[in-house]
Amino acid sequence: MKTSNILTSFRQSHLNGVINAESGLPGDKSISHRALVLAATAKGVTQLTGLNVGEDVEHTELALKNLGVKITQKTTTIRQIHGLGGWHFNQPVNPLYLGNSGTTARLLCGLLASTPLNVMMYGDSSLTQRPMRRVMTPLIEFGCQFDATQENTLPLTLKGSSNLHPIDYVIPVASSQVKSAIILAAMNTKGISRIIEPIQTRDHTERLLQYLDYPIRYQLLESGHTQIDKDIVIPGDPSAAAYIAVAAMICPYSKVRIENISWNPFRSRIFSILQEMGGQIKVENIRTECFEEIADIEVSSSITKPCIIKSADVPALIDEYPILAVAAAFAEGTSVFHGLRELRYKESDRLNALYRNLNLCGIEAHIQDESLIIKGIEPRPIFGGTTINAGRDHRIAMAFYIMGLSARNPVIIHGGDSVRSSFPNFVEMFNTLSYLRAAS
Ligand code: S3P
Repeated sequence: MKTSNILTSFRQSHLNGVINAESGLPGDKSISHRALVLAATAKGVTQLTGLNVGEDVEHTELALKNLGVKITQKTTTIRQIHGLGGWHFNQPVNPLYLGNSGTTARLLCGLLASTPLNVMMYGDSSLTQRPMRRVMTPLIEFGCQFDATQENTLPLTLKGSSNLHPIDYVIPVASSQVKSAIILAAMNTKGISRIIEPIQTRDHTERLLQYLDYPIRYQLLESGHTQIDKDIVIPGDPSAAAYIAVAAMICPYSKVRIENISWNPFRSRIFSILQEMGGQIKVENIRTECFEEIADIEVSSSITKPCIIKSADVPALIDEYPILAVAAAFAEGTSVFHGLRELRYKESDRLNALYRNLNLCGIEAHIQDESLIIKGIEPRPIFGGTTINAGRDHRIAMAFYIMGLSARNPVIIHGGDSVRSSFPNFVEMFNTLSYLRAAS
């Protein structure tokens, strides 16, 4: 999908329609990365349906191919992974380029730690600045080695070992990527590794392993088994759906149904926060597939009130602060998001990017310690007419595009092609939602 580097979003009078995988809602990005990686080590062929079509997941797929995994593409969202029946990866000929994808970088470190390979990884200008120490520390404890920059960032060379020893590890930072990397290393390490997560984060790896009959127990991971190959169906991405939901809330006369999205409790928190803010969101058909909850939602235009978000909510909302900030901008009163330190280590320093760009759009916002304070301006209009620079950060680009859908003047976003990381059909989807209304 070709996406322009400059996006312009215009005020919409209505948004109307049904969004699902067929109309371009991407599959869950977190589950897609994990399904690819786990299927690569399984015995036999695993079919993945609903794979995320963004560039981040594509980088995981390409890296696995470069490591000798045969992957057959059936359609844009269906793959057959010919599992290696263990950690029998090939030494890649060239360094692995991981683009913008932090999840790929951290998961690959965990996956390859227990192999006798030397693998160099590098990424784009954003990924090159992201912290890798958090994943290197536990993997070094296992017995893996790294050559990285002085700042412990990419490019780095992982020097794995087939003779790792199990670890007991308390994860000091709330990060599902770190937890998953440790799980992947522990799976191919003889003995039992104990991974303790003081603050719980998204648990897709654990759920997939349970679905694949791998003997994982919370706080106790037994190694040396091979998981059974079973086909995996990936639900829609709730982080992508959140942009559509907030758009439907802030645009007048809107009603949008979003079908088949992951309703994992570590991912669906955004929708209960939006409901608490007054968002008209009906949740229907909660069901379970491949050990993951799934739901459909219907979102209508809403008058919203501000919210106070505690630090304890950060892991369940970690990717949603940009779009939540937009919702808060349209609420009458002051919202406060606490404990946002981790936002500084995402595809950009998101805390700073939100503060800067909200102010550029005419919304009073400031940072106090690690909290973001946003003075919403409902019922006055947001003026827009601003250019913001999203750099390489897809979530900043998408959030401010949504702001423009209900601002008086267009919002222009530089760095718009970053949406390809997770949601290549993003702009088309909004064109369709407004076109459907115009045609009806
Ligand atoms: C992810 C976990 C989160 C999230 C990222 C995807 C994952 O990162 O921000 O977009 O798939 O595990 P951290 O684990 O670093 O918090």
